[in-house]
Parts: sequence; C-alpha cells; structure tokens
Amino acid sequence: MEILRTNAEMSRWRDECYRKKQTVGFVPTMGYLHRGHLALVEEALRRADQVVVSIFVNPTQFSPGEDLDQYPRDFERDLDLCRELGVHAIFAPEVEEMYPAGFQTRVLVDRVTQNLCGLHRPGHFDGVALVVTKLFCAIHPHLAVMGEKDFQQLVVVKRLSKDLNLGVEIIPHPTVRESDGLAMSSRNTYLSKEERQSALSLYRSLLAVREMVKEGERRVEVLIDRAKAIIEAEPHCKIQYVHVVDEDTMADIAEVTPMAVMAMAVFVGKARLIDNMRLWPG
Ligand code: PAF
Repeated sequence: MEILRTNAEMSRWRDECYRKKQTVGFVPTMGYLHRGHLALVEEALRRADQVVVSIFVNPTQFSPGEDLDQYPRDFERDLDLCRELGVHAIFAPEVEEMYPAGFQTRVLVDRVTQNLCGLHRPGHFDGVALVVTKLFCAIHPHLAVMGEKDFQQLVVVKRLSKDLNLGVEIIPHPTVRESDGLAMSSRNTYLSKEERQSALSLYRSLLAVREMVKEGERRVEVLIDRAKAIIEAEPHCKIQYVHVVDEDTMADIAEVTPMAVMAMAVFVGKARLIDNMRLWPG
C-alpha cells in the first residue's frame, strides 16, 4: 500500500493506474476509521481495480468553536485497517499541501446546502464542497463511495460532480449501524456509557416514525412531533433539528411522498450526531 503525501505523488500514482487501464475507486475520509468506513472501502474494492482512501481532517469544513482540534485521529491504526482490507493507496496530505499560502478559491453549491446541517453549520458545506472538489481533481477517480449517514453531504457531492463535469460516479452506501442501531460515526467516541444509551433514541425515533407512515400517517408535522418526543424523553439529548425533506431538493415537505427522508441532528452530551431514514414503506 502506497502512502502519498503530495498532489504530485497522487497524480503520479493515478497516471500509472490510467496507463495500465485500471479503474480507480476512491473513499474520502477524515480518518479514525470505523466499520462504516471499512464497508465503503469494501464496496470500492468490489467496483474498481485500484482503491485509494484519503485521510485528511479538513479544517475548512469546521466552524470556529467546533471540534476540529479534538477530532479523533489515529493514523497508524487507519493504515493497518486499510492494509488488511487490501487498499492500494492512501492519500494523506498535510493542511499546507491542500491549502497553501495564497489559497483563495471557493466552491459553493447553492440550494441543496441551504437546509438541515447547512442551516446550523454555516460554511460547513462550502468546506466539504471545496475539499471534495480538490480531492477529485487530484485523484480523478472513476467512482467514489460515500455513506448515506451523511445524507446531505452525499447530495451536495453528487450535485457538484455533475455541475462541474468532474465525471466521478458517486456510489451511495447504506448507513452502517452497531447491532443496537446506533449509526457508526467517529464522533461516537465522545459518548459516555449513559450518553450512548440515550443516543439510541435517534434510531428508535426514526423506526417509530417509519412505522407510523406504514400505518398511513402522512402529516409531517405529526411525525416530527413524535420523533422529537422520543428523543426528548432521554437524558443528555438536545435536538438541533428534525426535518422531513425531499431527497432530491433537500426542501422541507408537509406531506410524506416516496421521496421523503427524515433527517435529524442531536447533541448527545458534546457529540453532535446525525441520522436519517427514508420514510416511504417498501
Ligand atoms: O464525510 C467526511 O468524512 C468528510 O466530510 C469528507 C467527505 C471526507 C470531506 O472532508
């Protein structure tokens, strides 16, 4: 497994794959890999001849006061996990390599960034769009596998890849959950034992709401109230938002449609957790 630190090293590796007519699959990460990431890597390995994983904690997607400094990191462990799976290359640039002095370009994706996390983390998706565009330009992968847990991010990346003709096929991967339903996240490491117990209410609320839709409830207001009640009944949980949106536009909807997704962000202790679920039965 090659460890590439610069854009130039990355380009050389990619050129070699292209010369050998090998397809390149890509999994972007901020490291501290868990089973959710590994599932994305496995999917990329199934679909492409060569797979590169990026490990880069991107400062531009964190606002002042967020957890950039505390974000968990364990580079050696990440390398071991990738090596075991058969990853071909790691792209792990330093911040100065990605954002050298004088850097001033931005990538703004408009409407789909306005709601949900975009409302509550101003600038977050500008940072995500910028780094993903830079990674796609450095790597030129044929495909990138990304998790549905970061549902709005997935929509944003699909949009920018299409709008900027980057030619990267975005492959969504279903959210990977612990056996008790907690969606896997590097931020789960912030949870105490009691907080982790409370955090299960996110998944429980999504399942309860989906059941209500199955039984015929279509009024979004009623569904949101139910989800909030389940989460608020738990200690340690502070809801940031619960919305039901159209999967394509990210706009709020009032009645459940086949495109309806319930998405939520909840602080459990100091961990900000997100989760989502499609609501339409079947
Ligand atoms: O989902 C993440 O880990 C990050 O937002 C990403 C896509 C690697 C960009 O920094």
